[in-house]
Amino acid sequence: MNDLTQPFKRLPVALIGTGSYVPEHRLTNADLEKMVDTSNEWIVERTGIKERRIAAPDEKPSDMATNAARKAMEAAGVTPEEIDLIIVGTVTPDTFTPSTACYVQANLGAVNAAAFDISAACSSFLYALKIAVQFIGCGQAKTALIISSEKLSHIVNWEDRATCVLFGDGAGAAVLRTGTGKEGDSAILASDIGSDGTLTDLLLVPGGGSAIPTTEANIHEKLYTLAMRGNEVFRHAVEHMKNSALSLISRTGIKPEDISLVIPHQANLRIINAVTSRIGIPPEKVFVNLQKYGNTSGAACAIALDEAVRSGRAKKGDLILMVTFGAGLTWSSAAIRL
Ligand code: UT7
Repeated sequence: MNDLTQPFKRLPVALIGTGSYVPEHRLTNADLEKMVDTSNEWIVERTGIKERRIAAPDEKPSDMATNAARKAMEAAGVTPEEIDLIIVGTVTPDTFTPSTACYVQANLGAVNAAAFDISAACSSFLYALKIAVQFIGCGQAKTALIISSEKLSHIVNWEDRATCVLFGDGAGAAVLRTGTGKEGDSAILASDIGSDGTLTDLLLVPGGGSAIPTTEANIHEKLYTLAMRGNEVFRHAVEHMKNSALSLISRTGIKPEDISLVIPHQANLRIINAVTSRIGIPPEKVFVNLQKYGNTSGAACAIALDEAVRSGRAKKGDLILMVTFGAGLTWSSAAIRL
């Protein structure tokens, strides 16, 4: 999907604030060694993950989203009343309906906002960004809050060593606003989203929806937990993240050397290294925090963006390339001038 082929004049969109939240409780690889047949060495060598955060039993995705959103709004200097659009990406909503975004709206007192959820798994933050850019670009919204929040610990099979070592909980948020369009000012330069619905079976939660409703038997079979064919997902992740990033680079005319920092989906360090080396980005220009949080699905790149900004790794004026991949299959990328 190509921003640059749009036939009408669009308003510029700026990113004006970021925020994130992770729960306090740390689950380390040593803890997991006591739960399943695994080892710290295997997890670090195969994934790069050292620990992940786990939400408290009564801590909801909307609570984590609200915490991240408040920090993003504070950084942006916007009041709840100024927000006119809230999009939450999540595969672990508080409730099937209403949307998690509506709970967040109420928590924030964002009385002037339309609020809805999207489902694009690990790609959801950049899908939300793409949608918000369309709203703002067309003049249908002025100040949008995009959030991804996940309580993956709720849908992980804690007896399956192939998946339970990978995932964690957390939330990331950003505020987007009509930009100035001036050279050097913040701008979402371009974004790309894509999907391949022929490969839904590679990564899914099979039960609990309308197709396979929850029954006593399938609770026992853990059909409400994540099932993944890791090897195949790995191959597709490398291919699609590389292609999405390269297509964005070629469409915008950005040269790899112009990119200050790549902020990829934080699923596996080997995937990150394979993708960034294929697009010609050296490791020192790649932001990685998966060792601390594991894979928090759509929240992962949003938390990473916020940490990059707050730590000074990403500064005003920098050109950031974000690229993600997840269940669906879905993928997305974005080029952002901070
Ligand atoms: O966020 C959405 C996108 N998700 C991803 O991008 C995840 C993509 N996939 C991956 O990151 C990797 O495929 C994994 C980390 C999930 C697995 O790594 P792998 O190198 O593909 O390992 P594998 O599945 O091929 O398994 C290799 C071996 C197997 O043993 P055998 O059959 O060779 O004896 C597994 O049973 O490692 C075994 N294994 C483990 N051993 C210790 C699998 N999980 C574990 C574990 N600890 N936790």
